[in-house]
Amino acid sequence: MNAFIQGLPKVELHLHIEGSLEPELLFQLAQRNGIELPYSSPEQLRRAYEFDDLQSFLDIYYQGADALRTEQDFYDLTWAYLERCKADNVIHTEIFFDPQTHTERGIAFETVINGIHRALESGQKQLGISSQIIACFLRHLSEESAIQTFADVLKHQDKIVGVGLDSSELGHPPEKFKRVFQQAKQAGFLTVAHAGEEGPAQNIVDAIEMLSVSRVDHGVQCMTDEALIEELIETKMPLTVCPLSNIKLRVFDVMEDHNIVELLRKGVVVTINSDDPAYFGGYMSDNFNAVSQAHEMTHQELAQFSLNAIDASFIEAPLKQQYRELVQGYLTKTKVKADSEQSVV
Ligand code: HPA
Ligand code: ZN
Repeated sequence: MNAFIQGLPKVELHLHIEGSLEPELLFQLAQRNGIELPYSSPEQLRRAYEFDDLQSFLDIYYQGADALRTEQDFYDLTWAYLERCKADNVIHTEIFFDPQTHTERGIAFETVINGIHRALESGQKQLGISSQIIACFLRHLSEESAIQTFADVLKHQDKIVGVGLDSSELGHPPEKFKRVFQQAKQAGFLTVAHAGEEGPAQNIVDAIEMLSVSRVDHGVQCMTDEALIEELIETKMPLTVCPLSNIKLRVFDVMEDHNIVELLRKGVVVTINSDDPAYFGGYMSDNFNAVSQAHEMTHQELAQFSLNAIDASFIEAPLKQQYRELVQGYLTKTKVKADSEQSVV
């Protein structure tokens, strides 16, 4: 483990809370809720986490989410994630949840949002981690279903900062969700969308133009469109990149081929995130480590990922400034330490 990365204050902007359900907790919840699982142990389940593409992952991910039934289940899930955040020095996190994954199987929207929100409040009080909640529409479902879901989101505007778009990208471009995103914007929600994960760069352009997003989730397919890259740089449009996810879902063959460091050096506002850490083999520090092992980087560059995430976050300006100073202070402190160790040698 890289000590600089471990201590670096981090901000996570792309995390599906259902994707942080570790096999051990999944087994506990299944037992608590009287659910029979088609696996004999958490280890056997973990061994099934081999994916060919996004869809092969989503099939298993939606199956796993079925173990979540009660408000306490959602609380326990979120709390377990926050403990990982604490261990990785994550100071702020903006988490996604998929309301339709739960309402479609008869779990009330309130059960989900109240469990998640209560855990995040405890996280702020007990662990000092600030947070926001983003409700995502499933793009493989209809516009009508998204509009119905938005009615629930609206009732909980005090707990939800924005809306997003996730699930199967191929065959489900942003256009279908133009109207519901417009409604969300008008009601005062911020918007984000998964685009250019395994779908074409045009989905990124459309997410920006049709859905007025403040950030693009993934966005790594921008590499095929030079004009788009120029636009991302000029408009400071953040990309919430998920390196380990991209390898597990075969967006890139190996981390050495990943374009995140190239994008950083071009001046794109890229950030590092864990996406679905229980399924992709790692939380925030693991993602930073995987990138830095495959690409030689300076401490300043690694810290830039945190500074980018602070700028791209939905935090109020004074707290953003406080967090920037925390990262800058960490950089200065580690540099002084490295210099003094060098002068001893
Ligand atoms: N892409 C799209 N939908 C998702 C993902 C992802 O990486 N994770 C959970 N839902
Ligand atoms: Zn995602």
